[in-house]
Amino acid sequence: MDRTAQLTVPGAERAVAYDPPSGPHAPPRAGAVRVLEQNWTGTSTVPSHSLYPHQWSWDSAFIAIGLRHLSPLRAQTELETLLAAQWRDGRIPHIVFNPSVPLDAYFPSPDFWRSSAAGRAAGAPRTVQTSGIVQPPVHALAAWLVHRADPVLSRARGFLAGVYPRLAAWHRYLLHRRDLGGGGLASVVHPWEQGMDNSPCWDAPLARVTPAPARSFRRADLDHGAAEDRPTDLDYGRYVRLAADYRDRGYRDGVDGRRGDGPGDFAVEDPAFNALLIASEHALARIAAELGAAGTARRARAERLTQVLVERLYDPGRSMFFCRDVRTGDLVPERGVSGLIPLLLPTLPRAVADALVRTLTGPHFGLGDTTRLVPSYDLLGEAFDRHRYWRGPAWFNTSWLVERGLRVHGERERADALRTAFLDLADTSGFAEYVDPYTGEACGTTGFGWTAALALDLSHDQTASSELRGGDRG
Ligand code: SER
Repeated sequence: MDRTAQLTVPGAERAVAYDPPSGPHAPPRAGAVRVLEQNWTGTSTVPSHSLYPHQWSWDSAFIAIGLRHLSPLRAQTELETLLAAQWRDGRIPHIVFNPSVPLDAYFPSPDFWRSSAAGRAAGAPRTVQTSGIVQPPVHALAAWLVHRADPVLSRARGFLAGVYPRLAAWHRYLLHRRDLGGGGLASVVHPWEQGMDNSPCWDAPLARVTPAPARSFRRADLDHGAAEDRPTDLDYGRYVRLAADYRDRGYRDGVDGRRGDGPGDFAVEDPAFNALLIASEHALARIAAELGAAGTARRARAERLTQVLVERLYDPGRSMFFCRDVRTGDLVPERGVSGLIPLLLPTLPRAVADALVRTLTGPHFGLGDTTRLVPSYDLLGEAFDRHRYWRGPAWFNTSWLVERGLRVHGERERADALRTAFLDLADTSGFAEYVDPYTGEACGTTGFGWTAALALDLSHDQTASSELRGGDRG
């Protein structure tokens, strides 16, 4: 493990040194390792053998970030397996299906997506079946962190040289084919693409979508999760309609930035999706430099995109970021955790970072006051529900991102407190998929891949976490 990296970067003047965990908390390493062993299939890691029994795109990126502490080789393999299923147009599909898992174990199954046939013009792979939508671009960030965990192995295997062109094509796809609003940011065309499936942020844009009839599909998620915790049948009908319409258009997207061509009724610019793209663009700049190319243009682009993100999605009156509904052009006035994730960005203006921290710790999210981890949605919002998927519960990946963001902006005490709560709750909840934000009670499934992986990451002595704070210097 290379623990010597200390990087100075634009924006790092407000960075602080990272101290390894100390104090009474025994890191939950053994339990986390057990989950990662159980969920490993030989070439990738399932989020959960029951609810999500294939390879999921952003799950794999988060899992690789934790796995690098256990086995840098497996972490590299995790990302390589995912990237092997990339489409020729650059998209990384949100699911790579395992052919040995029965079709009825998960819906929508490969026979719904029909990727190799319906996605042929977009360059879907012939031999592996995938979904046709995407998930947040955490991959370049993960690749860089995985490389830093064992640069000698990485160089010996040509890991970065192998993944770089694929990651660059992925970012090109998002920044060009998915710039549906024409303002420089990527749009998602399905709530599953953003990853926070039934967040109240989607309620208004989704209301335009005619649901597929309930009898036309069978939900497999209810075999594994309580109905009152999962998205409703009406939500599912709309998810199915959007995915089927996209498939029936051959998974075709709009032409570079031309609004109105391509997506169906749903197109949203989301702050977390774009913040992760920018953080990954910083990471790609470092990867390029490591490979001997100039990272300057990418670094400049990441900084420019940070400004665009602030201009398009930040509301100074409400001190956080919001989704923009591309169809109406309006910001969606719901406060979701997504609107706090840009805290991750090193060149965010100081005033914006300070405002995000106030919002995080104020009455809408209550961190360090009424809540233990970051709730997925506004505690004061009408739609708040402490147990229902993404409508209030706290998820470990978003809390990890906020913890990183607090550290990037020098909020060390708050970051330490969040890390402590994270490690406690990951362990005591049995590495739950998500938890009640007030009590930490486990919700959803347990033995969840990214919960274990990110707990391992936070419990690790990791000077390498300074990578994230600058993220843009080769
Ligand atoms: N999270 C979505 C599901 O429940 C899509 O990945 O299937």
